[in-house]
Formats: sequence, structure tokens, C-alpha cells
Amino acid sequence: MKIFTTKKETETYFANKGEKVTGFVATMGALHQGHISLIKQAQQSTNEVVCSIFVNPTQFNDPKDLEKYPRPIAADINMLEQTGCDVLFNPPVNEMYADNEKWHLNLGDLEHLLEGEFRPGHYQGVTQVVYKLFSIIKPDFAFFGQKDYQQILVINKMVELLNMPVKLVMCPILREDDGLAMSSRNIHLTPFDRENALILSKTLSWAKNNFDSNNISAIKQQAGQMISSQPGVELEYFEIVDGQTLHPVTSESKTVVALVAARVGKTRLIDNVLID
Ligand code: PAJ
Repeated sequence: MKIFTTKKETETYFANKGEKVTGFVATMGALHQGHISLIKQAQQSTNEVVCSIFVNPTQFNDPKDLEKYPRPIAADINMLEQTGCDVLFNPPVNEMYADNEKWHLNLGDLEHLLEGEFRPGHYQGVTQVVYKLFSIIKPDFAFFGQKDYQQILVINKMVELLNMPVKLVMCPILREDDGLAMSSRNIHLTPFDRENALILSKTLSWAKNNFDSNNISAIKQQAGQMISSQPGVELEYFEIVDGQTLHPVTSESKTVVALVAARVGKTRLIDNVLID
């Protein structure tokens, strides 16, 4: 696997890719099988797969969260090599950001709903870094996990607004055997938290199995109660919304998604399920 740490060498390498179709997987590292599944999906439909590992400071609204974000780079490189990833882009922060850089994109209300409400500024930071990564690598396809459902909608909006020549592919959520969605943050869960965290995926499955478009508010309310009554779990939101707009479901809605965010012990977790 080629490993690049500067923009210049990465840009030069991809500027000379010829006819190759490139697939890109952006990550913040602490790789798990969820990330690896994106690389595998990229390998199936492209000739060359590039992964980035960059813990992006501008998308963290809690400095403690940024500080304690896991960074096991040697293990990550090993996993990527085992998977047959072709290129890793792993820049330091000063390679990606100049001092006092300004960024603002009009993302509409997607930016303020759900995650946006609980993590103000988060999606400006995500689009800022993904814009830079897309500009450096210029991938044909970029693979993102459904795990961060709202993130894909936001990145899709950016790609439309800025007319970027990349196609986005949404990949399914990888889960542990007991249903917990894989996440780099799961390593912070104590054994007690780990057990309690199962209420998130269990409640999402319950909501999917009991979905009734005429009774969404009752399902939401009951789901909220199921989660709130779990010890050690503090619910931030449980919503069932239109899968494209994240607004309330209407008769026009093509997809419906249930999304949850909660603090389990000290760790913030998110999960979702497509219902229809
Ligand atoms: P990170 O949380 O490292 O996730 C990188 C990619 O892996 C995202 O597309 C995410 O949705 C996907 N992913 C995470 N857990 C997954 C799971 N259990 N199953 C399938 N895919 C999963 O998302 C980010 O990083 C950052 O915001 C980033 C896009 C890299 C910008 O900094």
C-alpha cells in the first residue's frame, strides 16, 4: 500500500491515474469492520481504492471528544494492508488547514436538524474536510456508511451545490453479533455501557417491525420511553422522518428512516434503520 502524508504527492499521484476508476473511503481511523466493509465495497466496483485517515478537528464541537478520539495508526495501517487497500492518505493537521481558515456552505436546514441541533457546526466541519479530500484525490466514487445517515445527505448536498464530479455510494451498517452498530467510539464503553447500548438497535428494530405510517408519533413516543428507561442511557433524539429531507413523513415520502442518538455512560452513540 502506498502511504502519502502530503497534499502535493497525493494530488500528483491521482492527477496521473490515467483510465483507472478510483474509489475513496474517508475515515478518521480507529478502523473496524464497518470501515473495512466500505473498502471492500469500493474494491468491487473500482480499480484503485484510496482510504484517508484524518481526525478532523473542525468537525468536533467538544474539545474533549477530539482529544480522546482513538488514534491507533499502526493497527489501522495493518488492517488496510490486510484488506488490500491501494493507497492511504494520512496527513497531519497543518497539511490540511492553514491558520484561521474560513468555511461556510449553505446547507439549508439539513445542517440544523437532528445531529446538527446537538452538534452545532459539525456539518460545516465535515463538508470543509470532505471538500478538501475530494479536491486532492478527485475520486470517481466515494463510499460512505449509512451509519452516519445525515452525513451522507449533507455531503450529497455539497456535491450538488459545488457541482463536484464524484458519485456517492451509501453502504449498509455493519453490526456486532448482538446488534450494536460498529463505531470507533465503542471502545470507550464500559461493560455496563456495552450492555445498555443494545437498547438503541433493539428499539430501532422494534420501531421498524411495528411501523405504521398512521401512528408515527405513538411509535416515536414509545421508542423514546424504551430508551429512556434503560439505566445509564440518556436519550438525545429518536425520530422517524422522511429519508431524503429529514422532515416529517408525508404521503410523498419515498423512504422513511428512524434515527437515534443517545449518551451511553459518557459515550455518545448514533444509529438508524431504513424502514420503508
Ligand atoms: P468515521 O466515523 O471514521 O467513519 C468513516 C466512514 O465509515 C463513514 O462513511 C461512516 O459512515 C462509516 N462507518 C462507520 N461505522 C460504520 C458501520 N458500523 N458500518 C458501516 N459503515 C460505517 O464519518 C467520518 O469518519 C467523518 O465524518 C469523515 C467523513 C471521515 C469526515 O471527517
